[in-house]
Amino acid sequence: MRFDRTFRVVFRTLARAFRVVQCGVFCAALAMFLFASAMVRAQSGSAPAAPESAATALANGVEVRSGALHEQVTALRDDVLRIRAWRGDTPPEDASWAVPAAVRHSSVPVIAGSAHDHFGFRTRALAVAIDAQTLEITIRDPAGEILQQDALPLRFEGDAFRISKAMPLDEHYFGLGDKTGPLDRRNESFTLWNTDAYRFQESTDPIYKSIPYFMTYRAGLAMGVLLDNTWRSNFDFGKESPGVYSFGAVAGPVDYYVFYGPAPKQVVETYAWLTGTPPLPPLWALGFQQSRYSYTTQARVLEIADRLRADRIPADAIYLDIDYQFKNRPFTVDRAAFPDLPGMIAQLKAKHFHVVMITDLHIADCPGPDYAPYDSGMAGDHFVKNPDGSVYTGVVWPGRSVFPDFTRQQTRAWWGTLYREFHHDGADGFWNDMNEPSIFNSPTFTMPLNVVHRIDEPGFAPRTASHAEIHNVYGMENSRATFDGLRALDPGTRPFVLTRATYAGGQRYAVTWTGDNSSSWNHLRMTTPMLENLGLSGFAFSGADVSGFAGTPTPELLTKWIEIGAFQPIDRDHSEKGAGNKEPWVGGAAQEAIRRHFIETRYELMPYLYTLAEEASRTGLPLVRPLFLEFPDATADRHPMDLDTPAAGEFLLGPDLLIAPPPFPEEIDAYQAELPSSGWYDFWTGEKICAHALPQPATVTVDPDPPKDVKQPLAVPLTPQLDRLPVFVRAGAILPMAPLVQSTDETPQGPLTLRIYAGDHCAGSLYLDDGKSYAYQQGAYLRMNFSCQVNQKGLELNISAHQGSYPAWWKEIRAEVYGWTPVEGELLVNAKKVAAGISQRPKGAVVFRIADDGKGAKVEIR
Ligand code: GLC
Repeated sequence: MRFDRTFRVVFRTLARAFRVVQCGVFCAALAMFLFASAMVRAQSGSAPAAPESAATALANGVEVRSGALHEQVTALRDDVLRIRAWRGDTPPEDASWAVPAAVRHSSVPVIAGSAHDHFGFRTRALAVAIDAQTLEITIRDPAGEILQQDALPLRFEGDAFRISKAMPLDEHYFGLGDKTGPLDRRNESFTLWNTDAYRFQESTDPIYKSIPYFMTYRAGLAMGVLLDNTWRSNFDFGKESPGVYSFGAVAGPVDYYVFYGPAPKQVVETYAWLTGTPPLPPLWALGFQQSRYSYTTQARVLEIADRLRADRIPADAIYLDIDYQFKNRPFTVDRAAFPDLPGMIAQLKAKHFHVVMITDLHIADCPGPDYAPYDSGMAGDHFVKNPDGSVYTGVVWPGRSVFPDFTRQQTRAWWGTLYREFHHDGADGFWNDMNEPSIFNSPTFTMPLNVVHRIDEPGFAPRTASHAEIHNVYGMENSRATFDGLRALDPGTRPFVLTRATYAGGQRYAVTWTGDNSSSWNHLRMTTPMLENLGLSGFAFSGADVSGFAGTPTPELLTKWIEIGAFQPIDRDHSEKGAGNKEPWVGGAAQEAIRRHFIETRYELMPYLYTLAEEASRTGLPLVRPLFLEFPDATADRHPMDLDTPAAGEFLLGPDLLIAPPPFPEEIDAYQAELPSSGWYDFWTGEKICAHALPQPATVTVDPDPPKDVKQPLAVPLTPQLDRLPVFVRAGAILPMAPLVQSTDETPQGPLTLRIYAGDHCAGSLYLDDGKSYAYQQGAYLRMNFSCQVNQKGLELNISAHQGSYPAWWKEIRAEVYGWTPVEGELLVNAKKVAAGISQRPKGAVVFRIADDGKGAKVEIR
């Protein structure tokens, strides 16, 4: 039997391989992988005789039964499949912390298509075939190309299960949140188990978050896979068996979603459709944020704020870490150190600072009138319990503590009420830390697995659940309770919540950061793949502690970190207790001047940043993007160009800005940045980049029939300098920029600047609103679109009318055109000649100003 099966599988695989030989060298790789996967099956050697299988066609999919095993594949949309499997007659509970019921139960009709050896169906975008004997699933595109294929039958071992997929040689894997290591997850293996990973290093795993979602990407075709299972899970991308990637969990439902792009951006947007988009944050959250563990007194906090203003370092937020609390007890204030918290916050507000307070989830085990959160929590029965029914306690910052059961909606509502006082005192943001949860006196550094949660949540059956099931969603539900609580306290204001631990969908409630990194050049380098993968995993708003949390940076490292951090979504300078000071002025005036310049640039780019933030809130597209997200066709074989050594340190901020530190940011030797070929400008000088074609490495397999739009990346020679960070702008970009302010609370004075970088598909947009309320949902926003083209007469710039009712802060637009020179020097607005005309800087931009009355304008320059 066993030999038979092995032979059959190998034969089938070779036959498939033979079929693909016609498509050339490119496909030979696929054939090799198929053979390898057949060998893996052969070696596993444990296949029992397949029982009889039968299928039931569903309006939106198919359900197949083979012995006790049921496998159900349904289409939520033409491009989104949900795959569930279970043993026995009863499917597992159809409930989720990540995917809302309305989304889970979306459905499209399918066309059934079974044959003698498989059951299946097709949608307009995908064809599904389930092998009648093995129940292995193959997903093809309408042209019949295999997009994803099981490499082995679904395996169960006790409660655990594992799903194995074929791993083509040229496929790459992204996502899983901010897991450490290279951007591409290929050849790596990861455990998802939220873990307080103080001073994590490049190969530390697991760390703080569990986002069981990844994107596969092969030759320009992207797919997404979300395993909606909260238990401890593992994702292996060919480390265990070459040619096979696999994922599974120790228990819980086999319930996963597979969705097709083919463009990687579509996959990101579909993941947001499944798990939600991040809410539009308050504008101030995009400003520079200053933090430290801890500014221990009210006087010190005010001193830091004053220094930022005195030194003219633009900044929007200042953080209070745990030492503001009385004996580290959440929701208390150490009145000796902070004698007048509301007064301090008011003083800071007057200087345009927003205060973010840490509020960890552990409630000190302190009964009595001095500590209401404990007593009210006990009275409401809000804390997680031991199996014997007693309240579970563990030691964290305050000493012995108890832990809210965030799986209960009443508990989340109670938690939200704890914010009343701080909100009343004027705090604008809250920080949920230690919510893996971190427990100091436990051998596992977290709660025992048998601690009991009592789920009370719409869509779930009311039931108890072990911590083993809840652990990975505990931090997300903590941040959800905070977000919802703040919304209830102040329905008109957008909350700002920062969380450390989270799960798929956590982006709906909080922004995040990468936890306790270190002050080293390598950690600065690691921020790029970590934030890129977080962005692909739903977290458009994320940051890494600027300067590195643990240890003290050299002045140069702090400078370079501030430079790079200025182009990342959450720009927070933070450091641990005991480390040297890391504020922007530390290390002397020369260093400070460089740092100030980069933070100022961030503020000048705020209209662009906020426009990206609004896009993220609608689409889920992240602010920080790997290059392949925007330029999947940049390489001849359409591998992600981010994986090429010269581009390894690069990232995009939105579609238009490419930041290109050296692959190793401490590097002092000359290096070559790699640019997608569509034409680029130097952001700092406006000069058009002279790039040269990169020699094709001998090892790259070139598709003999590449699509016509495929281009080659181009190389730009660069020499590292401490005060420089290469930033390039896409030709065709129109960047909205603003006059410098010291905080986003200030209204910029002067014109809106549009930097126009002549090139193909020249366009840009701008989004603006009050930056704090939900009035934009009732139309109080301002949206503008810009486009530009060069024609025989000259350059034409189209400025749309203002959409929405929010007023502009400018009366004039100041345009700077790069990469194009007029012949006559004439300026026409709506066909009328403007006397002031244009000015041209030597070797620089063509500059002109026009009034903006909100009605839109057609501007011609000749
Ligand atoms: C944790 C956090 C860190 C914070 C510290 C004290 O280590 O990750 O950011 O400063 O706790 O609250």
